[in-house]
Amino acid sequence: MRKLVYYIACSIDGFIGDPEGDASAMLGLVDPEFLEYLTTEHPDTLPTQGRRALGVDDVPNKRFDTIIQGRGSYDLALKEGITSPYAHLRQYVASRTLGESPDPGVEIVADDPVGRVRQLKAEDSGFDIYLCGGSRLAGELIDEVDELVVKTYPVVLGDGMPMFGSGSAVHAFEPGATRTFGNGIIVRTYRRKR
Ligand SMILES: NC(=O)c1ccc[n+]([C@@H]2O[C@H](COP(=O)([O-])OP(=O)(O)OC[C@H]3O[C@@H](n4cnc5c(N)ncnc54)[C@H](OP(=O)(O)O)[C@@H]3O)[C@@H](O)[C@H]2O)c1
Repeated sequence: MRKLVYYIACSIDGFIGDPEGDASAMLGLVDPEFLEYLTTEHPDTLPTQGRRALGVDDVPNKRFDTIIQGRGSYDLALKEGITSPYAHLRQYVASRTLGESPDPGVEIVADDPVGRVRQLKAEDSGFDIYLCGGSRLAGELIDEVDELVVKTYPVVLGDGMPMFGSGSAVHAFEPGATRTFGNGIIVRTYRRKR
């Protein structure tokens, strides 16, 4: 069965952004070495506009063919007038309020994102599903997350949006690969212990 992978940038103290979710304090630390890593190892996770700017718009998908994000995260694209932010992936947006999708490439999941993710995981595909965030949707889907790819930026935010906006519970993961970059970013992979 294919995996749901939460691939996320966070601070040393585990926040994915400031209290409103703004991650720019971290993303400003991306340097040429890390950008090279993102474009060569994780091009699927870059939004369409970024792929275009970086000249990797036509690169075939490596790991993912599907993305799911919450309406809070999708709003960032909508505010820029972008209705299909990950055009190289099948896109799902969880929302009870959006109603009709603003783009034929985006399907709205108005009810039961857990059930929808289970259906997607059961599909016969060699590609995994990219859980983009944000915090609230990740909290709803926490039991379905099979793998974490945590990009830890060398900053402490003190307060902010948690990785999972859910109640407290212990979820066990086992460590996989770790990679450290010259600017202090550490990318760690964890697999779910089932
Ligand atoms: N650091 C990173 O790598 C990273 C990555 C992604 C996002 N982010 C940040 O995360 C922030 C957004 O996170 P967030 O927690 O505020 O929002 P979110 O999780 O992206 O979206 C929350 C919304 O998803 C919908 N939703 C959640 N559960 C649902 C359910 N069971 N059924 C139907 N719809 C459901 C609801 O939309 P409706 O209100 O429309 O019903 C809810 O308001 C952004 O500011 C972004 O910058 C950071």
